Amino acid sequence: MILPSPTWFVGCGNMAGAMIEGWRSAGVDFSMATAIRPSGTPVEGVRTVKSLKDAGASPRMIVLGFKPQKLDEVVPDLQTWVTSKTIIVSLLAGVEAESLRARFRKGLIVRAMPNLPVSVRRGVIALHSAEELDEATLKLLSDLFSALGFAMWAESEKALSAIGGVAGSGPAYVARFVDALAAAGAQQGLPEELSRTIALETVFGTGWMAASSHEAMDELARRVASPRGTTEAGLQVLDRDDSLKDLVAVAIDAARRRGAELAAEARGEQVA
Ligand SMILES: NC(=O)c1ccc[n+]([C@@H]2O[C@H](COP(=O)([O-])OP(=O)(O)OC[C@H]3O[C@@H](n4cnc5c(N)ncnc54)[C@H](OP(=O)(O)O)[C@@H]3O)[C@@H](O)[C@H]2O)c1
Repeated sequence: MILPSPTWFVGCGNMAGAMIEGWRSAGVDFSMATAIRPSGTPVEGVRTVKSLKDAGASPRMIVLGFKPQKLDEVVPDLQTWVTSKTIIVSLLAGVEAESLRARFRKGLIVRAMPNLPVSVRRGVIALHSAEELDEATLKLLSDLFSALGFAMWAESEKALSAIGGVAGSGPAYVARFVDALAAAGAQQGLPEELSRTIALETVFGTGWMAASSHEAMDELARRVASPRGTTEAGLQVLDRDDSLKDLVAVAIDAARRRGAELAAEARGEQVA
């Protein structure tokens, strides 16, 4: 698999770094790729520079991997390198295609919403383009992102945001759940480190099993919880008044609202 030549990663922290890690383990060739980040912190296997002026020939593809708040700091310089053929893949959560188009006069704009497990090629990636892409570009991006996990084209930016709300943020929520499970185990007398390992392996094993069997979650829970048994007693607490479901829904809605604020900021609107 080859990246368009050259490809620039403009901003290469957690997310773009995770994508590079995943592509590297998929055998992607990075000889024509450059990471641009102000700190110059080396990115393994990728030529890394501190500023755009050292990046080299005009890129065929640019991955925008900086924070949404940096948009107006980065784009004015960057746009001088963009031609009508440049593919601009934006990872910027909440920043709509229209806001990107208002800043980039040229180039094909594609939004991508990946999550961190792309580093181990088990990510979820939503892609969306407001503009029509030719077959070759569609195939190129589909192939590249499919190498990082479950990649899909979202029909609208609303769908892209909804997928991002669950998948993009999801690893943080799962991490919190693992911590909660581990802390509860420690409260029951397990050594902390052992409890952490047990919690993580339980989440990992359950996810793997469910993904392999395609079994409904409710059915899976029923297989663990025998009537009037121990698990059922625990589930009654989690299920009471739909408290867990409601809590997760409220958390995801809070993230959605923050995404809407970021989108408004990128449109140049004042956010209270
Ligand atoms: N993290 C996630 O799980 C996740 C999920 C979906 C989408 N995203 C999106 O991915 C983007 C990056 O998030 P992140 O978590 O990877 O953030 P991060 O780890 O803080 O990385 C940000 C990167 O931007 C670079 N940067 C800062 N100022 C810059 C400038 N003026 N020009 C070029 N690069 C600059 C930083 O450089 P240094 O390395 O030199 O500091 C760093 O490499 C965000 O837009 C976010 O919405 C993240």
